[in-house]
Amino acid sequence: MILDQFKLDGQVAVVTGASRGLGLSVATALAQAGADIVSVQRSGNTAAIEDAVREAGRKILCLSLDVAEITAAQRVLDATLAHFGHVDILVNNAGITKRTPSADFALADFDALINTNLRSLFLFCQVFGREMLRQGHGKIINMGSLLSYQGGFTVPAYAASKHAVSGLTKSLCNEWASKGINVNCIAPGYMATDMNVALMNDPVRSRQIGERIPAGRWGAADDVGGLAVFLASSASSFIHGQTIAVDGGWMAR
Ligand SMILES: NC(=O)c1ccc[n+]([C@@H]2O[C@H](COP(=O)([O-])OP(=O)(O)OC[C@H]3O[C@@H](n4cnc5c(N)ncnc54)[C@H](OP(=O)(O)O)[C@@H]3O)[C@@H](O)[C@H]2O)c1
Repeated sequence: MILDQFKLDGQVAVVTGASRGLGLSVATALAQAGADIVSVQRSGNTAAIEDAVREAGRKILCLSLDVAEITAAQRVLDATLAHFGHVDILVNNAGITKRTPSADFALADFDALINTNLRSLFLFCQVFGREMLRQGHGKIINMGSLLSYQGGFTVPAYAASKHAVSGLTKSLCNEWASKGINVNCIAPGYMATDMNVALMNDPVRSRQIGERIPAGRWGAADDVGGLAVFLASSASSFIHGQTIAVDGGWMAR
């Protein structure tokens, strides 16, 4: 039956940046679909995701660490296997942004952003990919952005990192699609999360953005959960290397 293909019962999902925002929503949706969750974030503020996963009747392991550290991916894989014994789904969601005119953009900020949004994402794909290749199956979902397609304004490092995330998704797809691993990318539009507080508090920019979205509203964190479950499930088994926008129609304008 078709709805059975969306079930994630007995599966283990690692979600980076699951403590709040889109990651919290994605991890909650995966848990409600049946997956146990490994939640990765720097802070110890994990009450929301712990409550949501337990409410869904699933198990959770919280790991507080910085994904930009070079050993982070291996530490997360080792802890996941020690705790749950296997891993089926990886969601590379943790990300940061920095808004500064390009002429003034500090190299240290550029490096920090690329390390968090891109280098760490590659390392997580590589380390978890090796385990998924060994077991012969796995689902990897990378968090891109509308800036996987567009340049944005005063966000040079963020746009570069998110274009690269989409390109890396295609590159890994070409190597791993025949080996039982689906690698895809979600490109959220303008979503009401902590990352966009400054934009939302700017009445002019907030109104301009809202007026350009065909759906007539900003996205909510919960708007990405359905696509994440789909891409994590066997219902999407023939979908590889895609970057799929969840943007209220923004890219159609
Ligand atoms: N909001 C949007 O409109 C939008 C649009 C397109 C794409 N995205 C992308 O979607 C993803 C999530 O965005 P969001 O809006 O939900 O962001 P958010 O509300 O700022 O949440 C970011 C999450 O990532 C974690 N995180 C950040 N840096 C980390 C690091 N170095 N190591 C471990 N965890 C880290 C944060 O926890 P700690 O602070 O505890 O580490 C938090 O859980 C990002 O990749 C973002 O680029 C967002």
